[in-house]
Amino acid sequence: MTTPFYLFSADPVREAIGELEALEFGLPAVHWLSCKTQPLAPLLRWWRKQNRPIEVVSEFEFLAALHEGFEPHQILINGPAKHQWLPKHARRGLRVNFDSRAELNALLPLAKKLDWSVGVRVLTREEFDPENPPWPTQFGFEFDEAVGALKKLQRSKARVETIHFRLRTNGASHVIYERAIAEVAEICRSAKFASLHLDIGGGVPPRHVLTRGGKTYTAEFSLNAFAAMLRRGVKQFPGLCELWLENGRFVSARSGVLVVKVLDVKERRGLRQLICDGGRTMNALISTWEQHELFSIPERRGQNAMTAVHGPTCMAFDQFTRRELPRSIRAGDHLVWMDAGAYHLPWETRFSHGLAAVLWHENGKIERARSAESFDSWWAQWR
Ligand SMILES: Cc1ncc(COP(=O)(O)O)c(C=O)c1O
Repeated sequence: MTTPFYLFSADPVREAIGELEALEFGLPAVHWLSCKTQPLAPLLRWWRKQNRPIEVVSEFEFLAALHEGFEPHQILINGPAKHQWLPKHARRGLRVNFDSRAELNALLPLAKKLDWSVGVRVLTREEFDPENPPWPTQFGFEFDEAVGALKKLQRSKARVETIHFRLRTNGASHVIYERAIAEVAEICRSAKFASLHLDIGGGVPPRHVLTRGGKTYTAEFSLNAFAAMLRRGVKQFPGLCELWLENGRFVSARSGVLVVKVLDVKERRGLRQLICDGGRTMNALISTWEQHELFSIPERRGQNAMTAVHGPTCMAFDQFTRRELPRSIRAGDHLVWMDAGAYHLPWETRFSHGLAAVLWHENGKIERARSAESFDSWWAQWR
């Protein structure tokens, strides 16, 4: 098998969704597949075969969902500025969360004509740009705008059924959700709106993934405490029928690995450097923020050395990780980067090289889902 390649499997996704489904929220929960997190065709097919619904945030993701046979009522459309593309592909019976006033104004006639189940995304006070916390994100309606939007939707007799927020990825604890839920409940009361669905987005952190600084994301996050908070929280919404969750990382992070080969080894200034045929720039941008487990095949033992693992591109940035690894790792060995199932595929690049091959494991069989990109297809993108 040529490297680099990703190997993904349905089994860990089944396990993750099972963990979420075992939680008791005090009312039925719907788990939407976050397409953006892992836009992998065999995963969408596997998910759809179980009659599960999908959440999309772009024209391409929406078309992929239709292409894979999801029914309109199984597709939830989130994301900004969708009034710019959704009218081209509108279908009866979709589920759409509005993200702005312009979007709502542009799409409301279609929503009524095509009987969409619609909702409003709220920018709660808990949501901010994680890299610059004083600043807000670009998503959703602020408190007063959200109240106005809900009133307008109710007056217009649109089928408004959902109140939605999404905080951020790798939520630190259930407490931030609790505050956000109290805020959206207040918005619903102010708008005299009885929501049928409370959509709390995703953000539940996966296990086994560390910050670059080596802390676990789950240190203060307990699934049981999260469920208990939700059982209390949903009581603030009279008439609520369903809790909606759109967990991306939690569901798919554990579902795959990235395999690269060591091409060359250097040693200078007290650092061993492994130059590999895949790396951060092409295959694992997420390693900018996260540390994942990494091991070699064959297994190497003996003395460790401080080691940097690099991809092949001409950027110092192209470094998966810098950590103690066995000094006996050598050119020709393979390295396996764990938890590659979330936010690796959507952030691939073709920096100096083509896209990696993708393998899919389901029912005990491994199949090639995508071949490694050839030079011909890499260059054929140009007219
Ligand atoms: C609207 C929405 N829902 C769900 C998710 C999935 O988030 P996570 O992977 O943190 O669970 C995202 C991620 O960007 C999102 O934007």
